[in-house]
Amino acid sequence: MERLLDGKNITIGTCYYPEHWGRKMWEEDLLCMKDAGIEVVRVAEFAWSKIEPREGEYTYEFFDDFLDLAEKNGMRVIFSTPTATPPAWLTEAYPEVLNATRDGDLIRHGSRRHYNYNSPVYREYCANIVEHVAGHYAGHPAVIGWQIDNEFNCENWAFYSESDNKAFRRFLKEKYGTVECLNEAWGTVFWNQTYTAFSEVHVPRRTNTGAVNPHLELDYIRFISDSVRKFAAMQSDILRKYIKPGDFITTNGMFGHIDNHGLTRDNLTFYTYDSYPNFAYCVDGFRPEEPFKDRWSSRALTEVRSISPKFGIMEQQTGANGWNVSMEAPTPRIGQITLWTMQSIAHGADYISYFRWRTCPFGTEMYWHGILDYSGRENRRLLELKEIHKKLCRMQEVAGAVYQARVAVVRDYDNIWDAEIDHWHGRIQRPSEDALFVALQQKHIMYDYVYLDDSVNEGQLARYSVLFYPHPEILTEKRMKLLENYVAAGGKIVFGCRTGQKDLRGFCVMEKLPGLAFRLTGTDVLEYSLAAPDEADVHVLWDGAELSAPIFRDMLAAADEDATVLARYVGGCYAGEPALICNSFGKGKAYYYGSTFDVDTVKFFLEKLSVIEPLEAVLNLPEGCELAVRRKDGVDYIFVLNYSKEEVKITLKSPLDELLSGEVEEGEIVLSGYGVKVYKRGSQL
Ligand code: GAL
Repeated sequence: MERLLDGKNITIGTCYYPEHWGRKMWEEDLLCMKDAGIEVVRVAEFAWSKIEPREGEYTYEFFDDFLDLAEKNGMRVIFSTPTATPPAWLTEAYPEVLNATRDGDLIRHGSRRHYNYNSPVYREYCANIVEHVAGHYAGHPAVIGWQIDNEFNCENWAFYSESDNKAFRRFLKEKYGTVECLNEAWGTVFWNQTYTAFSEVHVPRRTNTGAVNPHLELDYIRFISDSVRKFAAMQSDILRKYIKPGDFITTNGMFGHIDNHGLTRDNLTFYTYDSYPNFAYCVDGFRPEEPFKDRWSSRALTEVRSISPKFGIMEQQTGANGWNVSMEAPTPRIGQITLWTMQSIAHGADYISYFRWRTCPFGTEMYWHGILDYSGRENRRLLELKEIHKKLCRMQEVAGAVYQARVAVVRDYDNIWDAEIDHWHGRIQRPSEDALFVALQQKHIMYDYVYLDDSVNEGQLARYSVLFYPHPEILTEKRMKLLENYVAAGGKIVFGCRTGQKDLRGFCVMEKLPGLAFRLTGTDVLEYSLAAPDEADVHVLWDGAELSAPIFRDMLAAADEDATVLARYVGGCYAGEPALICNSFGKGKAYYYGSTFDVDTVKFFLEKLSVIEPLEAVLNLPEGCELAVRRKDGVDYIFVLNYSKEEVKITLKSPLDELLSGEVEEGEIVLSGYGVKVYKRGSQL
């Protein structure tokens, strides 16, 4: 039996909830799934009570029967640890397992993910249930892998229970050793926040101004991430004792306040993502003017690729979004399930599991539709799925091919989390990252995210001709050294305003700005300011192009003999002062742009840095189409994805094999609304 993500197969699956249906329906469902090409089901992530209905009472028959039936029908199963929803008997007996609000009110049973990661009682009960489910089910021949919990930090990514308080203190003690060092690291002398003992420290609480010590907050987010990682490690350590050789461990996501890279490295065989592109069309949040919101998943998939180069989709949207209380979006239109499936595959996913098989007629998610509606009758979504399966049969050779990016956007968790709590940082970070995504999409330039952590080496950076690291306020010596070596060896890097302003604690540095980036950028930031509301028309003139300089402006000076002023501010109180400096460093170049990036600015940088559309010579696409290339054994698989409902025209400059139709195409091609093409070509990128 071949394995998931073995580089040889693209496989489809679905999420199934045997506990929602009468047993009589199971076999009929499994047969119908098989008929549609589904080979794998994920089960049990919310089913604790089906295995331990009362404390210490275990009933295995329910899933035994299901697994036996799955095996009989040739269906493989991903079994989940059911820890995302602790049972009522547990939360009633031990309310300490519950999460709490910032004001300390307990978050009660009745929804999901109401637990905290640090309660010793919860950890004990979780360890116990994981031992039991793994011990009992891992050897079953139908089981091929395990999902830990469900969507860590979904719905809630802040934790304020008493167990969290205690664990936070332990985390800090381990990090700082003494309370004096903690005081130093958080600058508690400011506003008389000085502690005399770790027991006086709390997770963030309600304060008079709403503001909490920013250095405490940064450590608090690191602490949450650490808590999730330890909770996952506790489960994966147990699973490893029981799983069959070759079976995998994964979890699904992806949500905030988690170093998902570290979590994956330490605990998982690979990561899986839950892809719901139709959030773009939620009826209350829909903003037609927000460009490319319809393909935001491509951005998330880029991030997933950086977490786990080999990855799958555990939940791929098939129906309308809708909890009875929130998140309403229309049903996917004809072709969209195919488009979103291909979007995931284009970015590298070789396992696609559709959420969910049947729509549940009761509970909070009764409007969150799956493939089948309540009646289970054949519908157009099932027919589309069957067509998808046929298409996938024609493109199995794509499995294992690697996404091709020559540009990378650099990120790191310290800056992501600092931008969340620091308004100046957040204001510049979000729009610049949005602009990078949109500009690179419109120019059909594939990019990766590279997260700078201790595991990244120079070889990984050397793959990219250009790095964008838009606003790393926090820099470290080690990360700078890596970037300096990358540039010295011939790379190009682009920074934006406020680079190098802070250290790891989140303190502003007292050296000349941009602090640790001074040497690489050859730039001296003499002064800086938020853009004043009456200076909205200030811009930057670079080789005749007027670039916008929104939100924030650094006033620059060249500080190295190899540094050249490329552009200056026009208007405003920095009029005539340098706004862009390029420093030659070794064989490469570092650019410091004094403001934030909008889409046109990014596009102008791409042009100036000679980043061209990689397949310009092969095909022409409108901006509304995404281009993605995966490569294997000298062959490029070129995905063209049309997100709009209108048909578009693309031009192929030479004949190419199209895998989905099996035909050779050339010249002007009409791509239907939500249409997809997968071309094959000897690689010459
Ligand atoms: C995911 C979750 C599923 C289901 C789905 C629809 O976030 O993992 O359990 O809730 O969304 O809401």
